[in-house]
Amino acid sequence: MTFTPVELEVDTRVEIGSEAVAVAHPNIALVKYWGKRDETLALPVTGSLSMTLDIYPTTTTVRLIEGPSDVVELNGSTATGASYARVARFLDLIRARSGRSEHALVVSANTGPTGAGLASSASGFAALAGAAAAAYGLGADARALSRLARRGSGSASRSIFGGFVVWHAGEGEGEAGDLSSYAEPIGGEALDPALIVAVTDHQEKAVSSREAMRRTCASSPLYPGWAGDSALALDEMRKAIERRDLPAVGEIAERNALGMHASMLMARPPIRYLSPQSIAVLDAVLALRADGIAAYATIDAGPNVTVLCARADEDRVAATLRAVGDFVDTRTAHLGPGATLVPGGDR
Ligand code: PMV
Repeated sequence: MTFTPVELEVDTRVEIGSEAVAVAHPNIALVKYWGKRDETLALPVTGSLSMTLDIYPTTTTVRLIEGPSDVVELNGSTATGASYARVARFLDLIRARSGRSEHALVVSANTGPTGAGLASSASGFAALAGAAAAAYGLGADARALSRLARRGSGSASRSIFGGFVVWHAGEGEGEAGDLSSYAEPIGGEALDPALIVAVTDHQEKAVSSREAMRRTCASSPLYPGWAGDSALALDEMRKAIERRDLPAVGEIAERNALGMHASMLMARPPIRYLSPQSIAVLDAVLALRADGIAAYATIDAGPNVTVLCARADEDRVAATLRAVGDFVDTRTAHLGPGATLVPGGDR
């Protein structure tokens, strides 16, 4: 199984009504991105590594319209306030790059829980970057698209690609930082793990990851330690994927995620995404390991836990997680594809 990056066509015949449709999948980081060194350019403090999933795709259509402002429809409702502003700001970037001024109608449908720490912003902004670049006739190869998606949501830079993906922190500030901070696929698909998503909560989180990162970087004395360790974890993780060492991959991922949450717990004021249900799922993962099953947890900015294991163990792991309580629902994911344009948009 290999995942090749998309290459977008360059086409300058853009007019009102030009439309493109893109699909992208979420990714779950095994070495997390947590903290920006530049907020405007979305340059991360540390590099990160993820697996793109084959579930919960987002499909986004972008059409150029006549009209005084962008119109954004997310999951069937017209977006307003902060979620509208975030999309409109991203379109401003695309307009600046493409030298065009038309507004757009954006229609986006996400099939997973939104804003609940299950990477909906990653699939969302990867699909938006792909569709908007194409609709505005912006020639962008996969690396450029990854840098663009990064500006919408850092983790979206990784969802441009399928399989295992590294997002380089990049070097320097300003343009040098922008050019060097992109994601790329790293191979290693032979590991071919399963990832069980244990959904305990569909609610949107109370503190956005943007705000939580800001607060952690600014005030947690544990943050520098986590960030320093993350660079080492990234190196070790690449090697562990390469040699198909699932227990090592899992151990590194679990430690990195728990460390990220530990650093948040010591922010001022503290941020706590973990719920009693998350802890119950973490206990079940420990019990599985005590039973000899190589299962390892990771948790993003929310209460939901995802559990990495071998495909051969996926049914047992999923059943064990569901047995934790009625509040746990599971979905089983595997390595998934990168963002693609859908034939049918006119571009
Ligand atoms: O992409 P953002 O800005 O929503 O940040 C997401 C950060 C984590 O999901 C917690 C970790 C990661 O690397 O995806």
